[in-house]
Amino acid sequence: AQYDVKICCMGAGYVGGPTMAVIAKMCPRIKVTVVDLSQKIIDAWNTGNKLPIYEPGLEEVVAVGLKRGNLVFSTKINESIAEADIVFISVNTPTKTAGIGAGRAANVKNCELCARTIAEVSTSDKIVVEKSTVPVRTSDAVRAVLEHGAKPGVKFQVLSNPEFLAEGTAVPDLETPSRVLLGGMQTPEGLKALETVVNVYANWVPRDKILTTNLWSSELSKLVANAMLAQRVSSVNSISALCEATGADISEISRACGTDPRIGPKFLQASVGFGGSCFQKDILNLVYLCESYGLRECAEYWNWVVQMNEYQKSRFSLNMVRSMFNTVTGKKIAIFGFAFKKDTGDTRETAAAFIARDLVEEQARVHVYDPQVSRESMFAEFKYTLNLSEETKPGLGELVVTSPDAYSAAQGAHAIAIATEWDEFKTLDYKKIYDSMAKPAFLFDGRNIVDAAALREIGFTVYSIGKPVGMK
Ligand code: NAD
Ligand code: UDX
Repeated sequence: AQYDVKICCMGAGYVGGPTMAVIAKMCPRIKVTVVDLSQKIIDAWNTGNKLPIYEPGLEEVVAVGLKRGNLVFSTKINESIAEADIVFISVNTPTKTAGIGAGRAANVKNCELCARTIAEVSTSDKIVVEKSTVPVRTSDAVRAVLEHGAKPGVKFQVLSNPEFLAEGTAVPDLETPSRVLLGGMQTPEGLKALETVVNVYANWVPRDKILTTNLWSSELSKLVANAMLAQRVSSVNSISALCEATGADISEISRACGTDPRIGPKFLQASVGFGGSCFQKDILNLVYLCESYGLRECAEYWNWVVQMNEYQKSRFSLNMVRSMFNTVTGKKIAIFGFAFKKDTGDTRETAAAFIARDLVEEQARVHVYDPQVSRESMFAEFKYTLNLSEETKPGLGELVVTSPDAYSAAQGAHAIAIATEWDEFKTLDYKKIYDSMAKPAFLFDGRNIVDAAALREIGFTVYSIGKPVGMK
């Protein structure tokens, strides 16, 4: 087939996979090749029905491109870059764990590595698009690496195109985005490159929703958007603690404040704490940037959004232990949900891991049920985020059991903790669950999704976030 444009995307993860699948679906005249270092991930994408990530509606979208042949998943990184006109960099940029800025700064080594590879293998001009979330001015580094490594006569333009999709809603977010953001150098070559990529998105996104800015605004907007969203959750969670102390009800407050159009209803849902691979990482990235520019107050301001989230998670498990007569040692406790939110199998930075950690540190026996999370990824998350004590570490495999369904997780348990708002948890047979549990039977609703009054009627002792005990 003859294609108008060839795209290569480096990184076939939560962002690269769905984004490129949607481009391929929407643009039959564009060939899209998604490459990754991991053969296992590429093979999974090529199955078409055992995709490496769970995302509602994604299989159908991937099928369109695979069938038509303009969507290819491959490990042939060099060849795919060489033949492309546009190369997207969509690799992971996790928080650094050691060295300068450890625990806050984003590690951009994968981006730099991609730039080096692109420079090395390119024999024709290319537009390189940063899709990964990066510290402001990273594209400058990418440009420098590309220019220094370029073969004679080969020219690169670097653009920034941060991704705003949220997991669990990736397909609708990509098919009908609130906006597409593209940043580029304000030079004739930069503007021309911008126009080329604008034209890709214009295949299905209305022009007025495609925003173009300078490079730095685009990079920084991504961090700001996530920081502002997370700040709303931390704000409402801070008020949930005040509600529990006073008898006010956080759901009523969210409604009362959210109806003011200047505030709006979204991201005012109190919870056990936000998780996910982006919020904490991106805020800390912003904190570190502020610090690097000597803006201590700005750094502290944003750092408190993360601190409040830590507080909310630890407040939840502390309340569990206190309510259950100050001891959970040896008690079976069911955790419903382990993903950081519903409709994804992603466990990165999930609040559930912190709750499980706190409970096993108290030597409770934790039984976890999540419809999309494997035991393997659960334990990967434990290893990655949690500082387990030397005392608990060796027995972790036995203290944490993964259950095939909610009923067996709750069987004989002293308590249930709802950590993820999966729809199926709203319609479980809670009478049956109650009858199978040790008494008194506790339920801690970290997402405010169950009907607390109805469960109290059954006999449960129910704690919700930001709601007075004994009231709905
Ligand atoms: P991910 O870990 O799911 O995927 C990244 C992939 O890149 C991995 O499969 C890895 O093997 C691959 N990779 C790493 N180095 C490579 C290289 N040199 N060549 C080829 N492949 C390489 O990460 P993700 O969740 O897709 O996030 C990617 C970026 O997008 C991050 O910067 C993230 O902050 C940002 N982002 C993520 C989300 C989200 O919801 N997950 C949303 C918006 C933006
Ligand atoms: C986020 C951004 O929303 C998205 O635009 C960006 O591109 C990537 O980061 P994601 O992490 O996938 O997306 O999920 P999101 O829906 O934002 O939720 C993040 C966390 O906040 C989840 O743990 C969620 O449960 C929690 N949350 C969200 C609340 O606790 N209350 C709310 O009202 C909203």
